[in-house]
Amino acid sequence: MAMGLHFLKTHFIPAILLLFFSISISIAKPNCTDRCGNVSIPFPFGTTKDCYLHRSFFVNCNDTHYDPSKAFLGNSAINITSISLEGQLQVWQFIAKDCYSLNGSRYYNDPWIQIPRYLAVNNTANKFTVVGCDTRGFVSGNRVDRKYQTGCSSLCASEDDLDNGSCSGVGCCQTSIPKDVWRVNITLESFNQYKNYDNLTNKWDFNSCSYAFVVEETSFTFSPRNLYGLRNVKKLPMVLDWAIGNETCESAKKNLSSYACLSNNSECRKPDNGHGYRCYCLKGYRGNPYLVDGCEDIDECKDPSLNDCEKDRCVDIEGSFQCVCPKGYQGEGKTDGRGCVRIRGESLSLKLVA
Ligand SMILES: *[C@@H]1O[C@H](CO)[C@@H](O)[C@H](O)[C@H]1NC(C)=O
Ligand SMILES: *[C@@H]1O[C@H](CO)[C@@H](O)[C@H](O)[C@H]1NC(C)=O
Ligand SMILES: *[C@@H]1O[C@H](CO)[C@@H](O)[C@H](O)[C@H]1NC(C)=O
Ligand SMILES: *[C@@H]1O[C@H](CO)[C@@H](O)[C@H](O)[C@H]1NC(C)=O
Ligand SMILES: *[C@@H]1O[C@H](CO)[C@@H](O)[C@H](O)[C@H]1NC(C)=O
Repeated sequence: MAMGLHFLKTHFIPAILLLFFSISISIAKPNCTDRCGNVSIPFPFGTTKDCYLHRSFFVNCNDTHYDPSKAFLGNSAINITSISLEGQLQVWQFIAKDCYSLNGSRYYNDPWIQIPRYLAVNNTANKFTVVGCDTRGFVSGNRVDRKYQTGCSSLCASEDDLDNGSCSGVGCCQTSIPKDVWRVNITLESFNQYKNYDNLTNKWDFNSCSYAFVVEETSFTFSPRNLYGLRNVKKLPMVLDWAIGNETCESAKKNLSSYACLSNNSECRKPDNGHGYRCYCLKGYRGNPYLVDGCEDIDECKDPSLNDCEKDRCVDIEGSFQCVCPKGYQGEGKTDGRGCVRIRGESLSLKLVA
């Protein structure tokens, strides 16, 4: 019994609060699902026509073939693993491979992706990366209004040359990709595919494969083992940016029937990459700025990291909070030393006498 009560106190009550919290700030349109498997799907994204803002934000939730369900970008094979209201998507994309085997056969693939309008490959979070000891990798494709091509070379003479965590041209090279990219083609070339074939032992050296991919920089750290290990890896994560339409905030605001920042407590900002605009909840609010009433007041008093008031001195107000001293006290109610001090009766009467 005692244990049961304890369980109630520590588990049930937070669970109930959490439930209320998540109901009160729904991130999807009414009557729309806000999840696909492990991925939460905030509007403007949606899994059916009535639930997304534009076809670019269509998430194909495949629940017949996968358990848990998997989210795909539109009708593509691009698998989405997270969507943020800040304007990013994490997706998994095929890596390019170029492998040679003893019998002279070559296994090779040049993957490419094309992403919908209103999305762009994030140019700061991703790096084009090539792994190999005798290889050149290229990334090319389309940006807004033009084409691009870039790449890097990775060479090494022996496995001893390779350093953990160092991607600087020996066994691994990296380069940035430009802004506004919506099509990515990846190709690999060998300088000399037989260079590492050892005629004495009749064996391929350690690096019979090379690889190239656009990857989320924080998700990939080079290790010499990648030369073998990546052989069994099909996809790696990359970051896409999304924004609304192709207008600036100023011109989008002129047409209220299409302006996407529907919440009263939201603001419009221009992204650093791609076209269009994004909506954000104002400071002191959180939720989904793309929905009417989507940005809700944050109760800063419930979270000690959001307010600087002394215990029990915090009063939540719309979009902010105040530290208030109770009757009979003076001061600012703050933890930085300007707390509440009891107004002393003595000094009060002394003052009165004087
Ligand atoms: C789900 O995925 C399978 C395998 O990739 C595919 O054959 C099927 O058409 C997909 N279903 C939908 C609704 O996209
Ligand atoms: C050559 O070797 C590879 C892997 O070792 C194998 O997959 C392939 O079928 C072989 N090709 C021929 C023509 O024997
Ligand atoms: C990218 O690949 C596609 C299909 O393979 C091709 O049509 C297109 O011309 C390529 N673009 C560039 C810039 O290489
Ligand atoms: C405003 O947006 C609506 C809905 O997208 C569109 O039908 C209409 O043509 C736009 N009006 C102007 C003046 O651009
Ligand atoms: C690219 O991604 C990084 C990290 O997620 C983010 O801080 C940055 O704002 C993104 N760029 C754009 C244009 O959204």
